Amino acid sequence: MAKYVIDYSGPLRGEVVISGSKNAVLPILAATILMEGECEISDVPNLLDVDVMCRILRSLGLEVIENWDEHTVTVINNGITTSVVPHELVKLMRASIFVMGPLLARTGKAVIDLPGGCSIGSRPIDLHNKGLKLMGARILMDDTTVEASAANGLKGNLVYLDFPSVGATENVMMAATLSAGVTTIENAAEEPEIVDLANFLTKMGAKIKGAGTDTIRIEGVEKLHGARHTVIPDRIETGTFMIAAAISRGDILIKNSIPDHVRPVIAKLMECGAIVNDEVEGLRVRGDINDLVATDINTLPYPGFPTDMQALFMALLTTVDGTSQVIETVFENRFMHAAELTRLGANIRVEGRKAIIPGNQNPLTGAQVVSTDLRAGAALVLAGLVAKGHTEVSEIYHVERGYEDFQDKLKALGAKIERVED
Ligand code: EPZ
Repeated sequence: MAKYVIDYSGPLRGEVVISGSKNAVLPILAATILMEGECEISDVPNLLDVDVMCRILRSLGLEVIENWDEHTVTVINNGITTSVVPHELVKLMRASIFVMGPLLARTGKAVIDLPGGCSIGSRPIDLHNKGLKLMGARILMDDTTVEASAANGLKGNLVYLDFPSVGATENVMMAATLSAGVTTIENAAEEPEIVDLANFLTKMGAKIKGAGTDTIRIEGVEKLHGARHTVIPDRIETGTFMIAAAISRGDILIKNSIPDHVRPVIAKLMECGAIVNDEVEGLRVRGDINDLVATDINTLPYPGFPTDMQALFMALLTTVDGTSQVIETVFENRFMHAAELTRLGANIRVEGRKAIIPGNQNPLTGAQVVSTDLRAGAALVLAGLVAKGHTEVSEIYHVERGYEDFQDKLKALGAKIERVED
């Protein structure tokens, strides 16, 4: 197992180029199951999760060519050879569930292991199943596997999502593109990744209106063809480097970012006293101008403050003056990083969905900490960079699933971080 070995690094300064969005490219790759022909996808981040999704597509009979010099993935679909997704691949990545809707719509069947929970929550798929059932699918589920089938094809329907689930919105939207008639998703997720997926589907010939709002209307078509698409930048990686500038009291220019996708993070950083400027070359974040102060965070579905930024912002709040409060409303168990930050000297109190962060009584001090999930790991790395002394973050495969060249991008900004085999 690998770990990051980190030493106090002081202010991070320089520029960083954001990679393509993990949470956009995974459903986009799954959507190539729907088409007949060839797709070329650009700005694909070179991540473990992307490699797993490519392996899943190959297992279904697609030809997938990864070119990491160009950061492109080409998918050639001359027909699907099976409706069963290999369980040894599904267990590597819970986002494999994005394959269920497209596979069902294209072949009339999808058999896939349940993604299972992870450290941040039970991660059920009841809303995915509700949507597909309303479109005429039969869903059989046992403890380990879900089998969706629709021998006579899927039919459009009204699908109300009890919670604006990103994955359920994406699965239903993809399945609806090849269904007979019109599907309307109400209380849909509005994340930028939904819009990017809808843009890609539209390029392949789908008829979609309203992506990015809480109501999406999809008119089914006979078939979809190949397309070329460039993935949007990763808004959570963007937010991560914004926090890196603030927590280190540094000055970072973040290139290839879309400020509109990180409005809540910009607003909250400015409330803390950081300076955020949308410059021609990119988003410039400075934590070295004002003394940074406490603020409160309340995570919500987009366009609210993103749950994926909660751990990262909490790390920052352990270093500012004053007491902050963080409320996590999206996942039921997403404070695992609080205990690890406390090992670095923070004094965080967790009460259910609320965490109280007393702020900067004294600087963080280095320690051995464990990454419990993707964003928690990134938060611990940033905290380690500003903790006095030496910090080691283990279980970093979580981090490498979602951040391309993370330590190299940080080192280029002056970070003292090395990746070593444990
Ligand atoms: C996506 O996960 C992202 N992953 C997550 O990012 C992100 O945290 C999440 O959306 C919320 O923004 C990818 O896009 C690959 P949800 P997803 O369905 O689709 C409940 C990261 O760090 N729910 O919107 O799984 C669920 O339990 C990852 O990159 C149901 O109850 O999230 C959770 O409490 C972590 N039933 C809430 O909705 C369902 O059928 C939000 O889940 C589905 C979800």
